[in-house]
Amino acid sequence: MNQNNDIIQQIKSKNDIVDVVSEYLPLEQRGKNFLGVCPFHQDNHPSMSVSREKQIFNCFACGTKGNVFNFVMKRENITFREALAKLAKRVGINYQYTNSDAIEKNQPLYDAYKLASKYYQNNLASSLANKAKKYLLDRKIDDTLIKEFEVGLSLGSKDDLTTLLTKKNYDLTTLNQIGLSSGEHDVFIERVVFPLYDIQGRIVGFSGRIYEKSDLNKYLNTKETPIFKKGMTIYHYHVAKEEARIKNSVIVMEGFMDVIRASSIGYKNTVALMGTAMTSEQANLLKRLSSNIILCFDGDNAGRKATLANGNQLEELGLSPKVISLPGEDDPDTFILTYGKEKFQALVDHAIYFSDYKLDLLKQGVDFQSDLEKTTYINQMLKEISKIKDEIRCEIILKRLAKECDIGYNTLDKRLQEMKKQEGKSNSSDL
Ligand code: UTP
Ligand code: MN
Repeated sequence: MNQNNDIIQQIKSKNDIVDVVSEYLPLEQRGKNFLGVCPFHQDNHPSMSVSREKQIFNCFACGTKGNVFNFVMKRENITFREALAKLAKRVGINYQYTNSDAIEKNQPLYDAYKLASKYYQNNLASSLANKAKKYLLDRKIDDTLIKEFEVGLSLGSKDDLTTLLTKKNYDLTTLNQIGLSSGEHDVFIERVVFPLYDIQGRIVGFSGRIYEKSDLNKYLNTKETPIFKKGMTIYHYHVAKEEARIKNSVIVMEGFMDVIRASSIGYKNTVALMGTAMTSEQANLLKRLSSNIILCFDGDNAGRKATLANGNQLEELGLSPKVISLPGEDDPDTFILTYGKEKFQALVDHAIYFSDYKLDLLKQGVDFQSDLEKTTYINQMLKEISKIKDEIRCEIILKRLAKECDIGYNTLDKRLQEMKKQEGKSNSSDL
C-alpha cells in the first residue's frame, strides 16, 4: 500500500490541477484563482473556481469539489484507478496498480470460480446436456449468447465439481466458504448456470436456473462470500461501463435474462439488479455509469414497486432517471421476444422522466367528481411538484394541473410556494 501511496502522490504532484482542468474547459485567472463554467451542471456562468495553491476545484453553484483525481473521474465517468492511469500517462509516469493485499489474498477464490465456470461450460457443450440445451434453445438462448454470457450446466452427479476442485488442491473448508460446495457436495445440481460478475468483470458467483419441472426455487444464487456481496453487485456492469459512455445512457432491468435478451439485440448498455432492492452502493455505482439512467422493470405490480423505490433512491443522489413501462404481462425479455427490436427501441425513445411517472401514478383512479378525492390529489401533486428543481417544468405542470382540476393557477402557485417554504424550514432544522 505504501508503494501505491507514493506513486499516487507523485502522479498528483506532477498533474497541476489548473493545467488538467484547462484541457477540458477554458479557465480565466481572477486573482489567485481560476474561474470556468462548471461541467457538472447546466450553467453559462463561471461558477467553478480552481486553485493552484490548494490544488482543488470547487463549484459554488452545484457544490461539486475535489482534487485533480476527483475532477477527471467525474468528468470522464471513470474509476479512481482509471483516472490514476490516465494522469500517470499524461505526465509520462510508468504506473501499474498493485493492490497487493486484496488481489493476492483473494486470487485463489477468483481462480476457483474461473475453473468452475470452465467446467460448467464444458458440461453444456457435452452430450449430457441435451435437455438443458433444448431448454435454452426454446428460450432463444443460442450458441452465440451461451458463449458471450458463459452459460454452463451443473450435472446431477452431486459432487463432480467438489472432486475436481479438491484435486486442484482446494480444501473443503475453502470451497464451503466460497459457496461452491456444501459439506462434501456441490451446491449447484442440475441447473443451467449463469456466472455473476463483479464490476471489473471477474466471476464471483453463479445463479443456477432449474430447467425441468421442479419444486425447487427457480433460481439458486451463490451465498455472500468474501468476494461476492449482493448489495454491491450489478450484473453486466463491466460491459455496460463502456457502452453507457458510447450510448450516453444505461438501462437498468430486474433480471439477468432481461439483460442477455436486450444485449442480443444490441442494447449492451444494460445492467440488472437481480431482483433485489437497490442499495445506496448500487445507486452510486449506477451514477458513475451515466447521468442518464433508464429504469426498465417488469410490467407487473412488483416491477412498478421497484420502479418507485429505485427511482426515488436515484433522485436522492440528484439524478433525474427515466422510466420505461412494459405491458403488465411482460418483462424486457418476453417483450423483446414478442414484439421485436423496433418496438423496444420505440419504448426507449419514449421513456418518460421518473418525476412525470410519479405524477401519472397519482392521477390513476382519482374520481374527479368527488371534491374530497380531487383535493387529496391536488395536495399530493403539489407535494411532488415542490421537489422539482426546474422552475419552468414546475410552471408547466402547475398550469396543466390548474386546467385539469379547474382551479385558479394563482391559488395553486400560492400553496406551492407555502409548501416550499415549509420544506425549506424543515430541511434547515435537520442540519
Ligand atoms: P424474475 O422472476 O423476474 O426472473 O426475477 P426472470 O429474469 O424473468 O427469469 P426467467 O425469465 O423466469 O428465467 C428477476 C431476478 O430475481 C432473481 C434473479 O436474479 C432474477 O434474475 N431471482 C428470481 C432469484 O434470485 N431467485 C428466484 O427464485 C427468482
Ligand atoms: Mn423472464
